[in-house]
Amino acid sequence: MDTFWGPDFGMLAQSDPEIAAVVLGELDRQRSGLQLIASENFTSPAVLAALGSTLTNKYAEGYPGARYYGGCEQVDKAEELGVRRACELFGAEHANLQPHSGTAANLAAYAALVQPGDIVLAMDLPHGGHLTHGSRVNFSGKWFHHVGYRVRPDTELIDYDEVRDLALAHRPALIICGATAYPRLIDFAAFRAIADEVDAYLLVDAAHFIGLVAGLAVPSPVPHADVVTCTTHKVLRGPRGGMILCRAELAKRIDKAVFPFSQGGPMMHVIAAKAVALREAARPEFRGYARQVVDNARALAEGLSAAGMRLVTGGTDTHLALADLRTLNVSGSTAEQRCDAAGITLNKNAIPYDPELPTVASGIRVGTPGVTTQGMREDEMRRIAGLIGAAVRDGADVSAEVSDLVRQFPAYGRQEIFA
Ligand SMILES: Cc1ncc(COP(=O)(O)O)c(C=O)c1O
Repeated sequence: MDTFWGPDFGMLAQSDPEIAAVVLGELDRQRSGLQLIASENFTSPAVLAALGSTLTNKYAEGYPGARYYGGCEQVDKAEELGVRRACELFGAEHANLQPHSGTAANLAAYAALVQPGDIVLAMDLPHGGHLTHGSRVNFSGKWFHHVGYRVRPDTELIDYDEVRDLALAHRPALIICGATAYPRLIDFAAFRAIADEVDAYLLVDAAHFIGLVAGLAVPSPVPHADVVTCTTHKVLRGPRGGMILCRAELAKRIDKAVFPFSQGGPMMHVIAAKAVALREAARPEFRGYARQVVDNARALAEGLSAAGMRLVTGGTDTHLALADLRTLNVSGSTAEQRCDAAGITLNKNAIPYDPELPTVASGIRVGTPGVTTQGMREDEMRRIAGLIGAAVRDGADVSAEVSDLVRQFPAYGRQEIFA
């Protein structure tokens, strides 16, 4: 395979052949199949280089210019650059790049905005919300009083009237929007108006779609939210991690809620890699990428519909689509297994009002960030939808066609994709 993949694994292979084999095996797995997990992507080699740098050695508790350790002059520059780039890219007044993950970003946002026992209004998990939005098995459901809103049974869209009714009835201290499996745009202005009516904070969890915001492919939540939390590793194509954007008046509370309240030393190599990704996302080419991610998701969704699946909400405006497989009489878990066997990686997913257990699920979720990074477009999406249809419906072995596609569009195969 023609490849520009750079890091020299010779050293690792010599000192730890077992782990070197895992690293290379995973690279091979990522390249040899179709990666359709909506929350995954391929970071650039520049991001990987920053991640694999000696910045990992540095302790830097605190913030640039106010650290609890000496020797922070270089890592300070990385964090300052990253924060400046985030503020510029998203038009935010303040950014914190230290959260280790999206979950850590949400924990800090709760800590900054509400007290244990307060009422939090957020989307129910089976309707597309995230664990950190009030699930009973998560800190958010144990320490806060969760009130859940759902999607409408007929349209499968957020019911803004229900959100308002629940807000007026329960007077939450915090309202959360932003989901993990919701294929449509969210009306941030409507959420803002509801939050204002009941004097609640509005947190937008943009973990999934912040990369689409960066590429101007979907509207930004920043003008509407008190706080925006996100991950940096999904459409945004950065390293695994979290980020928080907020208004200047909340900056100190957010910073203190990250460190020292919920984290110790920041991962400076990851922060440097976030800065690299933010610079990449500010380039005009990234706008083309983000638009193509959405166009590809639409084409993939239409293809799945043509293959006999029912699309939740009838389609998508984002990077992901949810397909209801009851029309094919196949469960989500069976579909996941059948696709896996053919080299197509996707996940089973509950659909709204799903009669099945989450471990079985009636649907699948597909996303296009990764395949779009590989350079695939609508034609390839239609082809992939046909392959998924054949694998899911008939258990057909489509692995030869999958290999053919990834040979034509190799992950880490072409430098210009990240240039
Ligand atoms: C909406 C949402 N919030 C938060 C998270 C948590 O991110 P992490 O897995 O980095 O903790 C996710 C992860 O997928 C998510 O979808």
